[in-house]
Amino acid sequence: MDKIIVKGGSTRLQGEVTIEGAKNAVLPLLAATILPSKGQTILHNVPILSDVFTMNNVVRGLDVQVSFDQDHNMVTVDATGDLLDEAPYEYVSQMRASIVVLGPILARNGHAKVSMPGGCTIGSRPIDLHLKGLEALGAKISQVGGDITATTDGLQGANIYMDFPSVGATQNLMMAATLAQGTTIIENAAREPEIVDLAILLNKMGSDIRGAGTETLIINGVDKLHGAEHDVVQDRIEAGTFMVAAAMTSGDVLIKSAIWEHNRPLISKLQEMGVEVTEESDGIRIKSDVNRLKPVTVKTLPHPGFPTDMQAQFTALMTVVNGESTMIETVFENRFQHLEEMRRMGLHSEILRDTALIRGGQPLQGAQVMSTDLRASAALILIGMVADGTTSVGELSHLDRGYYKFHEKLAALGADIKRING
Ligand code: EPU
Repeated sequence: MDKIIVKGGSTRLQGEVTIEGAKNAVLPLLAATILPSKGQTILHNVPILSDVFTMNNVVRGLDVQVSFDQDHNMVTVDATGDLLDEAPYEYVSQMRASIVVLGPILARNGHAKVSMPGGCTIGSRPIDLHLKGLEALGAKISQVGGDITATTDGLQGANIYMDFPSVGATQNLMMAATLAQGTTIIENAAREPEIVDLAILLNKMGSDIRGAGTETLIINGVDKLHGAEHDVVQDRIEAGTFMVAAAMTSGDVLIKSAIWEHNRPLISKLQEMGVEVTEESDGIRIKSDVNRLKPVTVKTLPHPGFPTDMQAQFTALMTVVNGESTMIETVFENRFQHLEEMRRMGLHSEILRDTALIRGGQPLQGAQVMSTDLRASAALILIGMVADGTTSVGELSHLDRGYYKFHEKLAALGADIKRING
């Protein structure tokens, strides 16, 4: 089993790093490629990540042609023939995000069967909002033997108010509504940049979606969609992870092609701490002197609030800032597991329900730690760069789901880091 070995203490990251296309954008985009009954869909800037291979296999399992040209980060999908109704359990069970194929298969075929997503370490993650929304569009849903089956004689536009702006539910409903008869209005919709990216692709395919990026989406259904070509938006979470890495090592790093507006909530907190953040023509520059940073309070929220996917990495930054910082996690109920691992490295923290108090500026020592989820894996590697001695981070399958060549990119910026087998 692979491990990342990082020697910390005096690391100061410097240089430039380039960001990949966004994992959380490309997964729903791949689900959307099921919708066109005419023409190929070509996605560019596709990151080479294990979750992308899994989603490609989910789509392939529907009897759709999918090819991934990794040298050019390009996926080509041809879904023009008859589609199967059932997403294969083998792949769906590997990744919760596969639930976003439910809406597109149903819209295309009038019948869809997808396995219920399994357990998850960061929270309970129900899919009630996906199912309630599809029912509002006229689907009959049943759950038997671990499978969700949805059927319809034809989806009908509807007014849907979401109790919570769920990213996945918004994506599923948006895709289903593109082929429904009439108009669908989704209120309290998610506003993440990945929602906007999906709407852009769907509109290129011939759909009529308005309001993406706001809390109200208006989708006028059309009869058919056709293939389209699209560049996946840059990964704001990968960019944010490198911003935090630079900030916590008193670094000076240009994060190339990072998008300022997408990282606005993170940038605002970095600036409040005292990190210098500058927009340059080709990206975002981070300059920091860790001894001058001030503690802050952060609360995770749906976009445009502070992203839960940056919470673990930001707590790593809080550990090196003198004083008491507070992190409040409101999106997932069990997303502080990385703090238990960080405690093994000397972190002083207290957790009370959704709130973690981080006593920063205490000495940290390298240790053997395990990734508990994707973002935790990145956070543990980051803290390894500033802890004295050697840190070994295991369970890298989490890291590989969402970060391409993470250790190589950090090494190029000056970190003493390698990946070993054993
Ligand atoms: N929720 C419900 N019912 C639902 C759906 C969601 O109660 O039907 C709750 C969840 O339990 C959770 C909250 O709503 O407490 C947010 O869930 P959401 O549906 O918005 O998240 P998601 O679509 O499952 C995506 C990202 C996550 C990211 C969240 C929040 C993808 C593939 N995944 O998940 O990314 O944390 O949005 O921003 O887009 C990651 O990349 O590390 C990751 C976990």
